[in-house]
Amino acid sequence: SMAASAGHIPLHHVRSPVPQGRRHTLPASEFRSLSPEDAISVFEIEREAFISVSGECPLHLDEVRHFLTLCPELSLGWFEEGRLVAFIIGSLWDQERLTMDALTLHKSHGATVHIHVLAVHRTFRQQGKGSILMWRYLQYLRCLPYVRRAVLMCEDFLVPFYQKSGFKALGPAEITVGPLNFIEMFYPVRGHAFMRRNSGC
Ligand SMILES: CC(C)(COP(=O)(O)OP(=O)(O)OC[C@H]1O[C@@H](n2cnc3c(N)ncnc32)[C@H](O)[C@@H]1OP(=O)(O)O)[C@@H](O)C(=O)NCCC(=O)NCCS
Repeated sequence: SMAASAGHIPLHHVRSPVPQGRRHTLPASEFRSLSPEDAISVFEIEREAFISVSGECPLHLDEVRHFLTLCPELSLGWFEEGRLVAFIIGSLWDQERLTMDALTLHKSHGATVHIHVLAVHRTFRQQGKGSILMWRYLQYLRCLPYVRRAVLMCEDFLVPFYQKSGFKALGPAEITVGPLNFIEMFYPVRGHAFMRRNSGC
C-alpha cells in the first residue's frame, strides 16, 4: 500500500505533492488588460458580488462586452493560476460630473476615466486585493497621457475604502439605479507636476 511503501518518507511529502506541471504553465499571479473573451468570467464575479445582493450590477453582460471591445486598455484583471479573481473596467468620459449617459457610453476624446466597476471574487476578499488592484490601475493611468482624472460612484459604505486609495468625495451622484443612491468620487491622475516627473512611465 501507499502507507507501507512510503514508510520512511516524511508524511507531508507524501500528502502534498508539488504540482510541478501546472507551475510552468499558469503563473501564480498575473495582471493584464481584459478582452471580450473575459466577459463571462467578469460577469460571474458581478453576479455573486452585486446581483445576488441588490438585484442590480454596474455592468450587464452586453455592457461588459461593449466596454471590453471599445476600450480594453482601460480595464485591468488580476489572475491567479489563470483564474480571474479581481478586475476593474473603465471607459472615457468628457464632463465634470457623471450623468446617466456615462453608464453606457465611451467618450473616446474624454480626459476622465470613469471606473464602472471594481470587484473581487468572494473567496479573495478582505486580503488587500481590491486596494492593490486599484493602486496598480491608478499607477497605470498616469502613463496614459490623455488621462487627467478618474471618477467613480459608490454606495455610502464604500466611501472610506476609496478614500484610502486617494479618492475624494464630490457629493451625491446625479445617477440613481432603482432605489440605490451613490456618492461620486474623483482622483486627480494629473494633479501635481511632481507626480508626473516621478511616475516612471
Ligand atoms: C469592495 C471590494 C472591491 C473591496 O475589495 P477587497 O479586496 O475585499 O478589499 P481590501 O481587502 O483591499 O480592503 C478591505 C476594506 O474594504 C472595505 N470594505 C470591503 N467590503 C466592505 C463592505 N461590505 N462594507 C464596508 N467596507 C467594506 C473596508 O474598508 C475594508 O477594510 P476593513 O476590513 O479594515 O474594514 C470587494 O469587497 C468586493 O468586490 N465586494 C463585492 C462588491 C461590493 O460589495 N460592492 C459594493 C456594492 S454591493
